[in-house]
Amino acid sequence: MTTTPVDLDIRIPTDNRAQALRADVRAGLTGSPKSLPPKWFYDAHGSDLFDAITELDEYYPTRTERQLIVEHADDIAALTGTATLIELGSGSSDKTRRLIDAMSTHRDDGSGLQHYAPLDVSPSALRGAVGRLRAEYPGLRVDGIVADFTGTLAPLPGPGPRTVAFLGGTIGNLEPTARKRFLTNVSAALEPGEHFLLGAGLVADETAMQRAYDDASGVTAAFNRNVLTVVNRELGADFDVDSYRHVAVWNADDEWIEMRLRATHDARVHIPGADLAVDVAADEEILTEISAKFRPDTLSAELAAVGLPVQQLWTDPADRFAIFLSSKRL
Ligand code: SAH
Ligand code: TRP
Repeated sequence: MTTTPVDLDIRIPTDNRAQALRADVRAGLTGSPKSLPPKWFYDAHGSDLFDAITELDEYYPTRTERQLIVEHADDIAALTGTATLIELGSGSSDKTRRLIDAMSTHRDDGSGLQHYAPLDVSPSALRGAVGRLRAEYPGLRVDGIVADFTGTLAPLPGPGPRTVAFLGGTIGNLEPTARKRFLTNVSAALEPGEHFLLGAGLVADETAMQRAYDDASGVTAAFNRNVLTVVNRELGADFDVDSYRHVAVWNADDEWIEMRLRATHDARVHIPGADLAVDVAADEEILTEISAKFRPDTLSAELAAVGLPVQQLWTDPADRFAIFLSSKRL
């Protein structure tokens, strides 16, 4: 293991982070139904809990996507000719290794991948990933960027041709309007002919989807409740974290899983850092996350509509996950 300290390019100043959390908490907890935005799940503990989720039997998305990447990495490398790979919401960057391997070696003249730039809101996840990757790929430039991918993305690092990857089904965590804005920003940040590689969960068997977001050992429940711990720590709130139950429901109309926290009893919650006190009633639910599942045709149409027509689409044999490779329209 390397002990070199890992430098990160921090594009979210600490005060902005505090301001943003404050604004999100005020808007979310005074709305009806109450909600909290998902990016606040990922403090150091939240990122570790997410990694534990990816290893659960019930959580099929990670291993399904990994298998798709293993099978098609050479095609992806050949179709894109990537010199710089930018990954949004990169987390542990674990599955990305297969892509890095394929992109680094696919050309005989050595003109393959030169630069990998993972971008995430979680400094702890990034620090771990960047440290490991630098040790494993000494010839590759690896720059970790702490930023919010829901903001503007340009300018992206180079050299070109670039590929932006967005894996893990995280696209499903954006609501339709935020998704449209996000895809528009990705498209705007790319030059014609550059690529967008998107991993997305598909509408699948309801029981399987449900279990993936409500595992028997309670890891997902702990992950969901962690957002309250973050609000307690960062805004001095007094949520009684253990009195909220994790609930995951399939919303068949919107085709997404809703993650909620259900209060077991009435409580008045004080949130001094947001200048707020809110009443939570017994059985009231706070919506913490959606995880939308897609149909290949619909998501392909959304991509084409922002100038990212799909060049290749790969799905697993059970049609539970898909990888879309789009090329920015010339
Ligand atoms: N790509 C990894 C991790 C997916 S979990 C995988 O496939 O396993 C989602 C990741 O996105 C987490 O690492 C989280 O920290 C990050 N994330 C969530 N919201 C974000 C935002 N608004 N901006 C940047 N990163 C975000
Ligand atoms: N991107 C992941 C997904 O939608 C995030 C996730 C997995 C998640 N399990 C969760 C978010 C449980 C909240 C609660 O699959």
